[in-house]
Amino acid sequence: MADTDKSATLTIDGASYDLPILSPTAGPDVLDIRKLYGQAGVFTYDPGFTSTASCESTITFIDGVKGELLHRGYPIDQLAGKSHYLEVCFLLLYGNLPTAAELEKFEDTVTRHTMLHEQMYNFFRGFRRDAHPMAIMTGVVGAMSAFYHDSTDITDPHQREVASIRLIAKMPTIAAMAYKYSIGQPFVYPRNDLDYSSNFLNMCFSVPAEDYVVNPILARAMDRIFTLHADHEQNASTSTVRLASSSGANPFACIAAGIACLWGPAHGGANQACLEMLKEIGSVDRIPEFIARAKDKNDPFRLMGFGHRVYKNFDPRATVMKQSADEVLELLGVENNPILAVAKELEQQALADPYFAEKKLFPNVDFYSGVILEAMGFPTSMFTPIFALSRTVGWISQWKEQLGDPGMKIGRPRQLYNGESLRDYSDIENR
Ligand code: CMC
Repeated sequence: MADTDKSATLTIDGASYDLPILSPTAGPDVLDIRKLYGQAGVFTYDPGFTSTASCESTITFIDGVKGELLHRGYPIDQLAGKSHYLEVCFLLLYGNLPTAAELEKFEDTVTRHTMLHEQMYNFFRGFRRDAHPMAIMTGVVGAMSAFYHDSTDITDPHQREVASIRLIAKMPTIAAMAYKYSIGQPFVYPRNDLDYSSNFLNMCFSVPAEDYVVNPILARAMDRIFTLHADHEQNASTSTVRLASSSGANPFACIAAGIACLWGPAHGGANQACLEMLKEIGSVDRIPEFIARAKDKNDPFRLMGFGHRVYKNFDPRATVMKQSADEVLELLGVENNPILAVAKELEQQALADPYFAEKKLFPNVDFYSGVILEAMGFPTSMFTPIFALSRTVGWISQWKEQLGDPGMKIGRPRQLYNGESLRDYSDIENR
């Protein structure tokens, strides 16, 4: 971020205030209002942060008009096509692509932290059998601060690093255990001879009674899903992590807060909601009925997997995800999947409809991810946990960046108060 020679002048009741204009390396200029209240005694009002930059960051950049997503400058389609998840994790965490030696060391370190503290297995058993895996993940990740005391001191760079690795390494184990618990199967321990995504598939789908060999094509597809969800700048869950962290909360508590926020259907919960919607539509002839409902102001129904706060063009992740859906379903021999057929036709009809065109509503990452995950054998309840485990590295990278920012302050928004003015308490018999 650089100061520019430019400034904006705000005039209130004849008094003028100069607001510096900051110039980022990419994206629109930013009005610096940090001193506004001190100088002018006014707040700004921006519910949903539609015009407010809440922090300075060097990790991820989105150009919503072009439909571009860059991690540390690299486009997501190149990363999804040529890289793999743990390399992208390194990139997000440390700023550059690793050398071969750095990558080997990083992968080895992550791999050696995949096991959970044995007592945590008891913790899982306290949940009701029908608990949603996101509920279990929120609880268990929060509980990590009770098990890993030696990595909760956020002022110690070594502890911050250990906590980061632990979270990235253990999240697949936690998500897989939440799944196994929900279906009444025994937990499967991580295997260090498998890569990150193969290990996750093995923990989800193998059982002690028989051999299970991970299909490398599915492992690659899984890895790509992880990569596509790795980070997305200041979205709701990441902002939640940053806000929680700004008070000095420990990393496990912060990431648990992020998981809780991600669960909502407007955010990470949309992949589950989208597949449920596609199933409810069921056949292409019912699509017009659902498009009409999405357009009806009196109907709360929205086309799940469509629209985005930042993208006013194709979500570049959706483009890769759609290709991936075609590949995976063909390889699994289910290219005539009726849900995929509904998804493709729904996309066509919505894109051709003036309502969606005028509001710039395009498919987002969640539109096709559920189709792939279901074909791989995951129940819908596991879609958002998979998003959460993928996004953990993004949350951690943003958390680390914030803690390293000398200008960091506790997050404390102001408000536009419209309640009662000062009034005197009245005794109960006088009301
Ligand atoms: N179906 C029908 N209409 C929509 C949709 C949709 N999916 N999304 C937005 N609109 C309409 C909305 O009704 C509004 O119309 P009007 O201006 O007439 O009131 C207009 O488009 C703008 O919508 P908004 O809610 O003000 O936009 P937002 O930026 O606050 O919301 C969103 C973005 C993603 C929450 C919203 O598009 C949505 O609810 N989409 C469905 C849920 C979904 O797929 N979420 C996943 C997002 S991508 C993954 C992630 O980041 O978690």
